[in-house]
Amino acid sequence: MDSRPIGMFDSGVGGMTVFKELVLELPNEDVIYIGDTASFPYGSKSKETIINLTKTRIEELIKENVKMIVIACGTATSQALEEVQKMFDIPIIGIIKPTVEYLKQKNIKNIGIAATTGTIRSGGWQKEIEKSIDNCHIQNKACPLLASMAEEGWTNNEIARLTIHEYMKDFENIDALVLGCTHYPLFEDLIKKELLSNTEVINTGKIVSKAVKDYLIAHNIENKGSRKAEYKIYLTDTECNFINVAKHLLPDTNMIEKIQKI
Ligand code: DGL
Repeated sequence: MDSRPIGMFDSGVGGMTVFKELVLELPNEDVIYIGDTASFPYGSKSKETIINLTKTRIEELIKENVKMIVIACGTATSQALEEVQKMFDIPIIGIIKPTVEYLKQKNIKNIGIAATTGTIRSGGWQKEIEKSIDNCHIQNKACPLLASMAEEGWTNNEIARLTIHEYMKDFENIDALVLGCTHYPLFEDLIKKELLSNTEVINTGKIVSKAVKDYLIAHNIENKGSRKAEYKIYLTDTECNFINVAKHLLPDTNMIEKIQKI
């Protein structure tokens, strides 16, 4: 038993799609989330910058005495996870490995990846999938506008519909589309409308939350306490639309009452 919180971070509100699933899957766990809104977007930055930003967010979370860290960001997972796992002792989980494990278990071979420019450039998803799944066919698509539109709250208007149409039209014969950026589940309904009905749209948050639960149980570090879980949200810059977008995502808006600047 370990009653310390779980730490999470993303460049902005995208990681809240993971937060939402995590608090549903693990209702006893306290969570501390950092939205690095001062550095948004991560998707267009160099690998070196992403490693530095990831390192800084992890140091901040460690100061908050978290027991493990979830990188709720595809861009930081694909470019910095390996490096920070070497630098820090604390368990750090990203969004790629658990999702690839899921694809493997379900024997999904024709896979689309939609992600930020940096993630696609890194080949992070492609390498991990090819390592685990034989004879797979992968189609990659960078969708650089989506994360900014999500931060703006433009997830269900005409511009979002046209943008999603433009990005989705190149995917052909895929059995599953991985939303390889944590902002993209905010567009899930529009994305589903653009794909064939038998294409599974994969929200990594659901899978990652189950992986976190398995990890906590396997290492006997769940919070078995009976008091109500506490959530703390920090932003590196508060001049943004984070609260409005996050409110639409969460079942209980009290969860984001305590937003503070870190
Ligand atoms: N939500 C992030 C990701 O999963 C970052 C998007 C961005 O900041 O460009 O990639």
